[in-house]
Amino acid sequence: MFNSHIGEKEHNEARQGEALMLENPSDKNNGRKLFIESYGCAMNFSDSEIVASIMMDMGFETTADFKEADVIFINTCSIRENAEQRVRNRLKEFKGVKSKNPGLVVGVLGCMAERLKAKFLEEEKLVDVVVGPDAYRDLPNLIDLVDEGNKAVNVLLSREETYADINPVRLNTNGISAFISIMRGCDNMCSFCVVPFTRGRERSRDAHSIVQEASDLFNQGYREVTLLGQNVDSYKWEGGVNFAQLLEMVALVSPALRVRFSTSHPKDITDEVLHTMARHENICNYIHLPVQSGNSRVLELMNRTYDREWYINRIDAIRNIIPGCAISTDVITGFCTETEEEHLETLSMMDYVQYDFAYMFKYSERPGTLAAKRYADDIPEEVKSRRLTEIVDRQQQHSHIRMLEQIGKVQKVLIDGFSKKSKNDYAGRNDQNATVIFPVDERYKPGQYVNVLAERCTTATLIGKIVD
Ligand code: SAH
Ligand code: SF4
Ligand code: F3S
Repeated sequence: MFNSHIGEKEHNEARQGEALMLENPSDKNNGRKLFIESYGCAMNFSDSEIVASIMMDMGFETTADFKEADVIFINTCSIRENAEQRVRNRLKEFKGVKSKNPGLVVGVLGCMAERLKAKFLEEEKLVDVVVGPDAYRDLPNLIDLVDEGNKAVNVLLSREETYADINPVRLNTNGISAFISIMRGCDNMCSFCVVPFTRGRERSRDAHSIVQEASDLFNQGYREVTLLGQNVDSYKWEGGVNFAQLLEMVALVSPALRVRFSTSHPKDITDEVLHTMARHENICNYIHLPVQSGNSRVLELMNRTYDREWYINRIDAIRNIIPGCAISTDVITGFCTETEEEHLETLSMMDYVQYDFAYMFKYSERPGTLAAKRYADDIPEEVKSRRLTEIVDRQQQHSHIRMLEQIGKVQKVLIDGFSKKSKNDYAGRNDQNATVIFPVDERYKPGQYVNVLAERCTTATLIGKIVD
């Protein structure tokens, strides 16, 4: 097994029988503090937990205050232009800390690091180390290089790396919900998307290590895991396990462990997955199924490899096999050449599905993608904005309709903690992933399930009371 705190050089020395003479590699970092923050998707967040684990093996401890940090890592996202802008703005805030503490190490990790590579060092003088998503095991060497006064970069992508053997350090945890990364990379080539370039080829993690992680989490008191991948339906582990089978293996860890997953791809989601969800009460009735556009021509330009009819067929299958399943989506508006009629087809798709929730974006051209090479980003900004407003307004109506449907029904809620607004209320989520708020009852604690009668709602939250 890989021992993440022994670098290549020490490793060789150790093999020559000099192990006893080695100073403990963690000693020199003892007491050094790591501040790490993540942007972008849940996968980045989950990666930061792997990075924290590697750094703690090196002797670091984590801190929530960047002003007292010896190392600041920022795990970055490249998905849209504004995601990168946020990272650059954030880096500016770290300048002051560096001027007070010249020994401070500033590192950029993740997708933007992978996209910009060594250019990052030229563009942002503050940055000392640039590390891509598949190179985190190299952190001990990279930090050594920086400590010796160098700048360091490792952005090699891998076809095998899944970090399967690294035990993530849970960051910002409530001790109840955790992410488990089940695969990395993406082999789809959606024309708008930078992920295949920043995350590399798709690879699936050893199924047994996933089940083991879920089981360890359950034994530590966690009650919900979310299995993560860019396209979970194409999970395929060499032992012959597909996603439906993996889902079942994780669901069998305990009926008291809720299992969620993200993201499903419309071209790949199978009836087998849906039947597996229907069979297991603890696999939550919630599917995130990004549509991107409701128009077949635009979907083709996007290289999504399904059309409107196919997507509707998948929605119908979900409705038939899992009645009451919540469905959310991602929408991109103003993609290259999108006409007004095509935009209306996205709205009519939204009317058909009546999504519980949606993430909605204006198209943002990303350098190096197929769309950037082939098509002009020709929809004017004000048209993109107006279309987005129409989409957001429509979604608000649908979210409200979906909330109203839950009123008068008893919800099985996993208590996450206290409501943000009041210590007199608990907050939790129902099976469909809606937030539910209800008065604290001393008999129940966070991490337990309770039955809550939903009595009213706001646009995004159900409000109710415990019923026994
Ligand atoms: N793997 C997931 C999506 C990951 S990225 C899937 O295939 O559905 C998350 C979302 O960001 C995408 O679903 C898409 O809606 C949005 N997105 C990706 N690239 C974008 C771009 N160039 N401009 C605007 N939104 C984009
Ligand atoms: Fe990007 Fe498409 Fe892969 Fe999703 S499936 S990560 S949108 S290339
Ligand atoms: Fe962003 Fe990379 Fe995730 S580009 S959305 S952090 S995979």
